[in-house]
Amino acid sequence: MKYGHFDDDAREYVITRPDTPYPWINYLGCEEFFGLFSNTSGGYCFYRDARMLRLTRYRYNNVPTDFGGRYFYLKESGAASSPCCDSSSAGGDVWTPSWMPMKSKLDRYECRHGMGYSRISSARNGLAFSQVSFVPLGDNCEIHKVTLTNESNAEKNIDIFSFVEFCLWNANDDMTNFQRNFSIGEVEIEGSRIYHKTEYRERRNHYAVWAVNVPVNGFDTDRQAFLGLYNGFDSPQTVFKGHANNSVASGWAPVGSHHIKARLSPGESKTYVFVLGYCENPQDQKWETSSAGKATPGIINKKPANTLLEKYNTPEKADKALAELNTYWKNLLGKFTVDASASSRSEDKKMARMAGVWNQYQCMVTFNMSRSASYFESGIGRGMGFRDSNQDLLGFVHLVPERARSRILDIAATQFPDGSAYHQYQPLTKRGNNEVGSGFNDDPLWLICGVSAYIKETGDYSILDEKVPFDNDEKLADTMFIHLKHSFDFTVKNKGPHGLPLIGRADWNDCLNLNCFSSTPGESFQTTANFESGVAESVLIAGIFAFVGPDYVEICRRTGRNDEAAYAEKEIAKMIDIINQYGWDGNWFLRAYDAYGKKIGSKECDDGKIFIESNGFAVMAGIGIEDGRAVKALDSVKEHLESPYGIVLLQPAYKEYHLELGEVSSYPPGYKENAGIFCHNNPWVTIAETMLGRGSRAFETYAKICPAYREDDSDLRRMEPYVYAQMVAGKDAPRHGEAKNSWLTGTAAWTFVSISQYILGVRPVFDGLLVDPCIPSDMKGFTVTRHFRGADYNITVDNSAGVEKGVKSITVDGKVHEGNVLPAFGDGKIHNVIVTMGK
Ligand code: GLC
Ligand code: GLC
Repeated sequence: MKYGHFDDDAREYVITRPDTPYPWINYLGCEEFFGLFSNTSGGYCFYRDARMLRLTRYRYNNVPTDFGGRYFYLKESGAASSPCCDSSSAGGDVWTPSWMPMKSKLDRYECRHGMGYSRISSARNGLAFSQVSFVPLGDNCEIHKVTLTNESNAEKNIDIFSFVEFCLWNANDDMTNFQRNFSIGEVEIEGSRIYHKTEYRERRNHYAVWAVNVPVNGFDTDRQAFLGLYNGFDSPQTVFKGHANNSVASGWAPVGSHHIKARLSPGESKTYVFVLGYCENPQDQKWETSSAGKATPGIINKKPANTLLEKYNTPEKADKALAELNTYWKNLLGKFTVDASASSRSEDKKMARMAGVWNQYQCMVTFNMSRSASYFESGIGRGMGFRDSNQDLLGFVHLVPERARSRILDIAATQFPDGSAYHQYQPLTKRGNNEVGSGFNDDPLWLICGVSAYIKETGDYSILDEKVPFDNDEKLADTMFIHLKHSFDFTVKNKGPHGLPLIGRADWNDCLNLNCFSSTPGESFQTTANFESGVAESVLIAGIFAFVGPDYVEICRRTGRNDEAAYAEKEIAKMIDIINQYGWDGNWFLRAYDAYGKKIGSKECDDGKIFIESNGFAVMAGIGIEDGRAVKALDSVKEHLESPYGIVLLQPAYKEYHLELGEVSSYPPGYKENAGIFCHNNPWVTIAETMLGRGSRAFETYAKICPAYREDDSDLRRMEPYVYAQMVAGKDAPRHGEAKNSWLTGTAAWTFVSISQYILGVRPVFDGLLVDPCIPSDMKGFTVTRHFRGADYNITVDNSAGVEKGVKSITVDGKVHEGNVLPAFGDGKIHNVIVTMGK
């Protein structure tokens, strides 16, 4: 069943009933301030770091789910309370127009998730409500513009109550340290502005403000006073009573609620602009100063709040900010667009809407969040990943290359002098974080991958000359090129008995913990090492090395480092030899050798005979293409790992826990890395298939995990039909086809690479823009527009020949063009490119 539909022109997903199979969320904010916003107005917001600077509280894993957000309660005086389950209120009808938290019966409901904003519209008893929520560009706040319209024939008297619950900044302490928390909550109230200033008296120099642009009839800041003793968000006593208590929080749980009385004649609308902002003062200007210039301790300096609120104190100003946000996204998504109307296959419009809009949107979100804050990542545990952030770049670098550049510099600064790296770093401090330690031996290679993608996109080699610290230590700084060299050398210098790369703690598959040997319940697989074998090897890392190594060679050549290029080439050739010798199992590529030197991912194994990752990467690196092994490997993947919902990670699933394998065998069969459809690696097979020229198969692997293709199946899939999920339960799982962990996954970047660069085939290379589509033969054509190094390319592909791969001819601006690499024109102009496929 479907719970909504795509509105392609508006670039919105329209949810048409509130009780989606899981909260379907959106992200507000694309710079420094972010909100997670569900289709029933649930979620929370934070400034820069979801753990350290969280403005509003959110209870993960709450019952009922998604209970808490920015809520508006309405009470219509005099109206009979609606039938259904709502608690009755003496002399009035109380309801929540976002459905949650009261699960109010609504006569109308719609939630539109758009690019950086969401809009909820609903109605009950002739009263229409609409809320548009977004984070404006350039400011650190959420704006919620709320409009009430009387659609009935009689005058209506409405009490509006806003509601947010403040988080005491550090989200981890906030939900654990109650012996302190219940005594520290502090607020200040001034007219329609509620200030949350917990810990401001001591070391913080920031506060939150929750304000509305009209005078209020009352307020509440004490949670219990607002809700009533033992009440939940679904039965706030104050709202039923119809008037606020003007409570001032002291300790306990500070909240922010405004009470506004509105009288609406028939047909009349009223609009309010609510702003939830983050404000900071310089340390020496924390307190308000009197006219005599004396600081008033205890009274916060409200200047930054005044400036902020002044900017959004009318509906017109809010609308203008939203229009600016829309233009911003229109321009961003204008950098890569897809039109599939010439394809003759009606389903291709799903591909076009994903590749042209939602997939890129998700890439922005993963770039911003890494794996920190979603409805599955609590914003507490995980910082920016070295490996993850480098891969996230791949789907983002074309959107805002400058931001990709500075991200690369941040990531590289957490690298150790030997090329290895902290696995994660904290976004606020940008320092490597030891919580997950280091020693994931694939990490260094992803830096080469990220930097190459940046250079191919921009042609900017100057990044290689940037001085970047090692281990965040300026004294150890060296050029970015040296960082790449150490990345490359790390693999060269850390090989095992077969000459394959040592796996360390794990490679890309965090759960293949070959040196962990944990038998203690609850022990972290990611940080435990009870058995430093020094021999466990990864064929995947070898494949990644063979895939990204040639880019390193190119970078060396193009910067005149010919000796280094020659050395690197030799090392790559050596690695390929080793893969051929020790990485091939007869019908597919092996996955690894364990701490005893035993094969993993081999026909010799009982479970885990074949894995997806090494097969994808080896073929992406071009291994076995000439002698037919690549075809064999990918056919084996299809034969053993294929399912209706995508390719599972391994088969057969591990049925019992293996001390020598670690976390991969800890999951029930069919979930996560134990034979789940771990979507991140599916596009590697897609890309590999295009290298073999098998366009139909490549597209099939693409479409199977593409959420838009599963919209009708939302009851089973459960996650948002507009974003990729990290994992879909595999064929061994009772809930085969059910997705989890939507939004923050490397799937976003890699699927975008697979569809845009390899299937549609428009791929930045060092020399320009390569055009080399690999598509199903019945796809008759398509158009891609691509902004590239300062020019726009309008690329129309004609496949009336009905081939899967092969470019017969290209014209650029009407003239025949030799080869299929378009030059970087860099002239700010639009160039019309016609590509004719054929043999
Ligand atoms: C998660 C991690 C990623 C890892 C993958 C496979 O998505 O964020 O780093 O590669 O799992 O284990
Ligand atoms: C768990 C997850 C895996 C993730 C890892 C690191 O093992 O299953 O996907 O990469 O944690 O946090």
